[in-house]
Amino acid sequence: MKKAEYAERGPVPQDVITVVDLVLPPLAAGQVLIEVLAAPINPSDVLTLTGQYGLLPPLPAVGGNEGVGRVVGLGSGVEPSWSGRAVLLPVGSGTWRTHMIAEAKGLIALPDGVDPQQLSMLAINPPTALLMLSDFVTLQPGDWVIQNAANSAVGSYLIGIAKARGLRCVNIVRRESAVDAVKKAGGDIVLVDGDKLAKRVAQATDAAAIKLGIDAVGGAATDNLARCLAEGATLVNYGAMSGEPCQISPASFVFRDITLRGFWLSQWFRRALPQRRSEVFAEIGGLIASGTLRAPVQATYPLARIKEAVAAAAAGEREGKILLLPQA
Ligand SMILES: NC(=O)c1ccc[n+]([C@@H]2O[C@H](COP(=O)([O-])OP(=O)(O)OC[C@H]3O[C@@H](n4cnc5c(N)ncnc54)[C@H](OP(=O)(O)O)[C@@H]3O)[C@@H](O)[C@H]2O)c1
Repeated sequence: MKKAEYAERGPVPQDVITVVDLVLPPLAAGQVLIEVLAAPINPSDVLTLTGQYGLLPPLPAVGGNEGVGRVVGLGSGVEPSWSGRAVLLPVGSGTWRTHMIAEAKGLIALPDGVDPQQLSMLAINPPTALLMLSDFVTLQPGDWVIQNAANSAVGSYLIGIAKARGLRCVNIVRRESAVDAVKKAGGDIVLVDGDKLAKRVAQATDAAAIKLGIDAVGGAATDNLARCLAEGATLVNYGAMSGEPCQISPASFVFRDITLRGFWLSQWFRRALPQRRSEVFAEIGGLIASGTLRAPVQATYPLARIKEAVAAAAAGEREGKILLLPQA
């Protein structure tokens, strides 16, 4: 058994993480042993290694916040039906490892026959996309939203959920070479950020009133989205891929009454009632199982190649997620 662990944080994320032996205690009553099948490396994982994330676990820590596994051992008192089941790994549990112990109570069982790689990305990015489309502005079928970083995993889930809800979506990317991938993911309107974006968006949408903007980038990209929005619209920032603070011009705030809000899934997990969490995960699980939601995967790595995997995940201009397959 192995785990990918870091004992310090530093500016080069792959330098601080390394694979070490994992020794687990015997299972206690009510616990299960899980074999980890797949776990993604998300931007938040990279920021946790560099020390720039909003929530930093005490050191040493095992990397990774989400993933999927299979139950391979049962402690006393656990229902035998758990044996062999695919399960979602508890969020934030340090998932870059070959095995983990978890309490059976509270585990979320996953449908059989669904691609474990897609299921491994279920817990963070799809609910982020779904909640940003649900919790800020009341949208009706036919309404417009606009997002940047549209070729990201969140971006591709947002395209799928928007389509399923009958919403129309303008998708912004930062490079021409990402346009085709977003079209392939179902994006009807895809534009490259930059000069006269608002004018180009107005042309592409027949001057539609866009009620919701979704920003993963920060910096000048925030203001570029703000300029595309209708009077009184809401702009939700949920990431800072540019590494810069959100810029927004007084003209947007003052003359067009744009509201800038933030979204953080960790905050939502803390506040959401169990019933709402179950509803969100059930809706997302169904959309992934039916193939409506899918995020592209650029490459998979065994745990032993954790440094290469983290370096690949930290690089820009990818064609999809980097996943760890700890049993490979
Ligand atoms: N607030 C929350 O609760 C929450 C939850 C989930 C995710 N997030 C955030 O959402 C964002 C997307 O996550 P993800 O997992 O979907 O990402 P991802 O699939 O890894 O894709 C990264 C995206 O960021 C873009 N990007 C990278 N470097 C950039 C830069 N310097 N300037 C502008 N864009 C840049 C990439 O464009 P290229 O392909 O052109 O490099 C790509 O579109 C991240 O910031 C993540 O932390 C936030």
